[in-house]
Amino acid sequence: MRRPGEGTTFKKLYHNRQQSKQAKGLFYKLAIAAVLLIAPALYFVYFATSDSLLTFDSPSEIDVQKLWESADSGGWRPSSVPRSDWPPPPSESNGYLRVRCNGGLNQQRTAICNAVLAARIMNATLVLPELDANSYWHDDSGFQGLYDVDHFIKTLQNDVRIVESIPEIKKNGKTKKIKAFQLRPPRDAPINWYTTTALEKMKEHGAIYLTPFSHRLAEEIDNPEYQRLRCRVNYHALVFKPHIMELSHKIVDKLRAQGHFMSIHLRFEMDMLSFAGCFDIFSPAEQKILKKYRKENFAEKKLIYSERRAIGKCPLTPEEVGLILRSMGFDNSTRIYLAAGELFGGERFMKPFRSMFPQLENHSTVDPSNELKDNTQGLIGSAVDYMVCLLSDIFMPTYDGPSNFANNLLGHRLYSGFRTAIRPDRKGLAPVFIDREKGRTAGFEEAVRRVMLKTNFGGPHKRVTPESFYTNSWSECFCQTSASNPADRCPTDDLISDLNSKEQDT
Ligand SMILES: *[C@@H]1O[C@H](CO)[C@@H](O)[C@H](O)[C@H]1NC(C)=O
Ligand SMILES: *[C@@H]1O[C@H](CO)[C@@H](O)[C@H](O)[C@H]1NC(C)=O
Ligand SMILES: *[C@@H]1O[C@H](CO)[C@@H](O)[C@H](O)[C@H]1NC(C)=O
Repeated sequence: MRRPGEGTTFKKLYHNRQQSKQAKGLFYKLAIAAVLLIAPALYFVYFATSDSLLTFDSPSEIDVQKLWESADSGGWRPSSVPRSDWPPPPSESNGYLRVRCNGGLNQQRTAICNAVLAARIMNATLVLPELDANSYWHDDSGFQGLYDVDHFIKTLQNDVRIVESIPEIKKNGKTKKIKAFQLRPPRDAPINWYTTTALEKMKEHGAIYLTPFSHRLAEEIDNPEYQRLRCRVNYHALVFKPHIMELSHKIVDKLRAQGHFMSIHLRFEMDMLSFAGCFDIFSPAEQKILKKYRKENFAEKKLIYSERRAIGKCPLTPEEVGLILRSMGFDNSTRIYLAAGELFGGERFMKPFRSMFPQLENHSTVDPSNELKDNTQGLIGSAVDYMVCLLSDIFMPTYDGPSNFANNLLGHRLYSGFRTAIRPDRKGLAPVFIDREKGRTAGFEEAVRRVMLKTNFGGPHKRVTPESFYTNSWSECFCQTSASNPADRCPTDDLISDLNSKEQDT
């Protein structure tokens, strides 16, 4: 899917970010001059100078002050309006599409994006996606309980037709709902599964019901317009209901009243640890619990437990998170919002982290209304955590599996203007931590910084498998005002301001 020219643009971007510090003096003057002229000229100066910037060396330091700001955009901005011919949905629909989205809040979110795209591909009328009542969290909020339905339907009116429920038909004098033919789509089904097998059944029965519907449409699709539709769903149409947004903003305002804050998704929970097979750091009793959970919930798979951490498969411990941040130069005044479920191992693991970073908050300590008390585990609690992490100045995930909270947030923050993300390379850091535990502490912080300097802090970057489209929608959902590649150029009749009028982070 690479278009000519994309590679070089990316390279420049990447280097720009790395060199920006050394180039500050020169660049600063140029930038001021450019701003004084006209804004669009800024982009020109930026790219005209970038060749000379390439000759500088990579920086050897992490500038914490810079991390509190957004990453360098390199002239890119989010844009997911169609850039080529995109007719409205045809007046004649091929039938109704029902889907049942399983999994947690974020798995459901990507499934909703896939459902809209599937309906578009099939010229079908989408029935508002059903969200699995989450058996684990005991939550049955449903689509209507979480998202603004009117906004969803209206935002997508040029893309697909959406109805709130499947209509009734008259048959032999009786009215009843159209019965949807149930189908189980293959995992990551290609587009042609929808235009053949699924469409055939839809035409035959008038409606189909796809269940389960999680990861049922391939993520990498060689059609940027289809990918942009996914971004319109994810970043414009899906907006949480007003009371969730209000509560989230209240929490963010409270956190920000004392300056910037960082959010950390501490995925140090029983399900994650047992899934990943990370047992070594636990006591025999704890290991027994984890192994039992693994046996009962996950397919059997031979894992060499002692190797899991060394190959980067384990979520970071709270202490490791603290050590990374401290090595990067964050001090004990850093305000941190912890988005996490129940920490496995409890206070024993939190203590070392808390002593490095005492300014800790979570949704129960900052919720002014106690509204979340009754729903701390449910989808609404997850939705509030999602919003707070989306709006925080820095976001740091400690584990990123497929289609989970952290992955969606990374994608959403990228789209919201390259908001800083700290993404530790767990595999790169593992030997550094293991050395430290063996008593080789000399040069520890320097070694952590070396690994971290090679990571991306939230700027535009090329998507490399296994990075998901939902984690990184660059470049399909981004454009440049003066792009060298016409495919990347911002559309002139850009509706972005229109779409943005009700965006999540306004
Ligand atoms: C959907 O409608 C468009 C335009 O009306 C048409 O070109 C396309 O072939 C249709 N696709 C299917 C699967 O019906
Ligand atoms: C933060 O660290 C400084 C020393 O670097 C220390 O004097 C201070 O007491 C610490 N503050 C807290 C709240 O731990
Ligand atoms: C939030 O923090 C408080 C105080 O540190 C702690 O007692 C509580 O268990 C935490 N709640 C969650 C959901 O992590």
